[in-house]
Amino acid sequence: EEASLVTHAMAKDTLSRIRDVETEQVEFRKGLVKLGRICGYEIIDGRMDTEYVTIETPLEETMGERVNGLDDVVIINVLRAATPFVEGLLKAFPRARQGVISASRDEEAGRNEEGRFPITVDYVKLPEITEEDTVIVADPMLATGSTMAVVLEHVVQNAGEPENLIVLSAVSAPEGLLRVGEQFPGADLLTVAIDDRLDENGFIVPGLGDAGDRAFR
Ligand code: PRP
Repeated sequence: EEASLVTHAMAKDTLSRIRDVETEQVEFRKGLVKLGRICGYEIIDGRMDTEYVTIETPLEETMGERVNGLDDVVIINVLRAATPFVEGLLKAFPRARQGVISASRDEEAGRNEEGRFPITVDYVKLPEITEEDTVIVADPMLATGSTMAVVLEHVVQNAGEPENLIVLSAVSAPEGLLRVGEQFPGADLLTVAIDDRLDENGFIVPGLGDAGDRAFR
């Protein structure tokens, strides 16, 4: 299955700002938060149902519309770059349960013959996941897909493959989308941009640099 793009103009605007090398740490982090919120709304818009309800305003009864499923959302934060991105998602899904996985690429080891990095997983804490849940695994960068593949293995181990499993990134490389799509055909890949390529160090080009470093260092 092909990846879908977040098409909201503000997503493109915000991503363009954070790509800019002149954008310093505070603005970079705020940009990721904003992007998370926009992506959250995009998920609601395209992937969740609404229902009509009767409500009482201070003046009279009228019809309203509510989004279904907002109580059944799980957001998985892939440390560390996803932290500000998840902060934004939580503005769209304030009642989401959260999982945390610390997974990082062993860049010194380099990529193997399949193009994967070895991934070090230090910490995994997931809430219980049920069939009704919309599970959003958030990581702003999907490069070789090595990190996401390992993270998804943990999620699936914990929950079976959830029916509504969304892999959300800000910037993706075609290679990473292919890898994750092949290994997890049921996952719904959603990204703000698909960039040209990976460089020899496995960085997304043009990309936005190292999101973790730009947000935290
Ligand atoms: C970066 C990024 C992703 C991963 C993507 O994290 O935030 O998690 O690399 O690369 P991949 O698709 O090739 O696996 P990094 O390992 O630098 O850790 P950090 O978030 O702690 O900086």
